[in-house]
Amino acid sequence: MSKNGRVALVTGGGRGLGKAIAERLARDGAHVLLADVQGDLASETAKEFGEAGFKATGLQADISSESSVKKMYDEVASKFGRLDILINNAGVLGLESDGKRPLVESMSLALWNETINVNLTGVFLASRGAIPIMKQNKWGRIVSVSSRAARMKTGLGNSNYAASKAALIAFSRVMAGEVGRSGITVNCVAPSRIVTAMTLAVAVGKDYFEKNVAETAVGRLAEPADVANTISFLCSDDASFLTGVVVDVTGGSFMA
Ligand SMILES: NC(=O)c1ccc[n+]([C@@H]2O[C@H](COP(=O)([O-])OP(=O)(O)OC[C@H]3O[C@@H](n4cnc5c(N)ncnc54)[C@H](O)[C@@H]3O)[C@@H](O)[C@H]2O)c1
Repeated sequence: MSKNGRVALVTGGGRGLGKAIAERLARDGAHVLLADVQGDLASETAKEFGEAGFKATGLQADISSESSVKKMYDEVASKFGRLDILINNAGVLGLESDGKRPLVESMSLALWNETINVNLTGVFLASRGAIPIMKQNKWGRIVSVSSRAARMKTGLGNSNYAASKAALIAFSRVMAGEVGRSGITVNCVAPSRIVTAMTLAVAVGKDYFEKNVAETAVGRLAEPADVANTISFLCSDDASFLTGVVVDVTGGSFMA
């Protein structure tokens, strides 16, 4: 799955799933750009990757802000002059400030907007900025991280998150049709539960992860590498005929 000479931007690449995806693409030979709203985290992770012998650069960027995304791509264009791969990974769960999951009847408009702004508008802004740069080389790979929550019945108090993750699938399908003849593919992955800071924040009951294991066919929880390996393939030359698809990385806990 060589990605030598490729430049790959991973949003939310500072930690968790984004970090694992970036590491896999870096192992494949790409120069990875870790774009995270937490700029210090992005720089620390890039430093760690550099010490491990990978090519990596940290960027501070808030994907929900049009001006921040523009600044990010100005930097990408001036420093690297190309962009081959975009992984729309950054996302938020959309919890209340006390960490609770809001039911629709009590959800504030501000929380709804905040979730949509990052999980959906952020994917739009990052993708819009990437397309003209990818078109210059007539080659590109865009993969967005959706969720099993967008594919099937999910927990209560999760409507903002599930709606944002479902919308990005429809968004990606249309975008795939728009850019296909420019050598750019657009796909989504929809992972089941993985242990990260995001899920640990809501893993209140001790069966939060165990319940998910029981639902799978393979009998284990998803690892970040399961998602990263799938994305590595979707971003390879071998996957040039795969576009507009959703890959359910769920160990069989969701089967279409
Ligand atoms: N962990 C899971 O079980 C799971 C399952 C399915 C899908 N996902 C999705 O995978 C993605 C990564 O999740 P994770 O578990 O690693 O979460 P995480 O909270 O551990 O990491 C998310 C990263 O995104 C960054 N980020 C948040 N808002 C941002 C913004 N506006 N601009 C730029 N960066 C921003 C954060 O700073 C953080 O580094 C998310 O989109 C999430 O919805 C996660």
